[in-house]
Amino acid sequence: MDRVAATIGAPRAVLPDTAGIYSDTGLHVYDTLVMDVLARHAWGCPPERFVAFYREHLRPNHADIGVGTGYCLDRCTPGPTSRLALIDLRSSCLEHCARRLERFRPEIFVRDAREPIQIDTRRFDSIGLGGLLHSLPGDLRSNGVVFDAIAPIAAPGAVVFGYTLVRDGVERSLRRRLVHRLLNGLRIIDNRDDRMVDLAAELGRRFSDCRLELVGSVAFFSAIVPSSAVFQHSPGDTL
Ligand SMILES: C[S@@+](CC[C@H](N)C(=O)[O-])C[C@H]1O[C@@H](n2cnc3c(N)ncnc32)[C@H](O)[C@@H]1O
Repeated sequence: MDRVAATIGAPRAVLPDTAGIYSDTGLHVYDTLVMDVLARHAWGCPPERFVAFYREHLRPNHADIGVGTGYCLDRCTPGPTSRLALIDLRSSCLEHCARRLERFRPEIFVRDAREPIQIDTRRFDSIGLGGLLHSLPGDLRSNGVVFDAIAPIAAPGAVVFGYTLVRDGVERSLRRRLVHRLLNGLRIIDNRDDRMVDLAAELGRRFSDCRLELVGSVAFFSAIVPSSAVFQHSPGDTL
């Protein structure tokens, strides 16, 4: 059993890393394989698009959940200048990402994004969920729990944003269908039943100003945490 599993018990909310994509070696080839090859040539969305989306939504006081290699954060300027929290279930990703983003002096938290995220700290003004939802078992209706899980750390008016691979754009291209089948078969992703309409419904139920855009098979989303929302008290809040 790995270090993270030993800490949190049975990892029911994480796909097993059978392809080794989150191993040390996997993380070193991840950017080339996933962003330069798959994103551009299979998902129909160039890597610059992901970075531009992050740049547009990132605020100085930012939490990123499901950090991977930190590809987008590393390319954002000026970046999360005031505070950066990296949150993930895998310590390998957190360690890799923390080294790469050392210049932002990140805080690191091992947490399951499907459970309410309790962090003894001030709330965040932006929360990034890039590539997390398609990495979770289940469809977008069940994975809406992630939007509840961030409630304890989201400031009123915070922007919640990210991207996820959906089925909607897959059917249109043979290459996308084959890659989609391969990645699901290897359990690198689980998006067999992920549809834009469900993402829109899950966002709309909790947030305001929800925006969605499909580029190839990538659904980009953003939404605002309503100021009127009833939040759980966060221990770091000044009341
Ligand atoms: C595809 S990568 C995201 C990459 C990165 N955010 C980006 O935009 O390039 C998915 C990440 O989600 C993490 N993850 C998977 N299941 C999780 C869970 N239940 N809770 C927290 N993180 C999880 C993985 O460890 C991995 O770091």
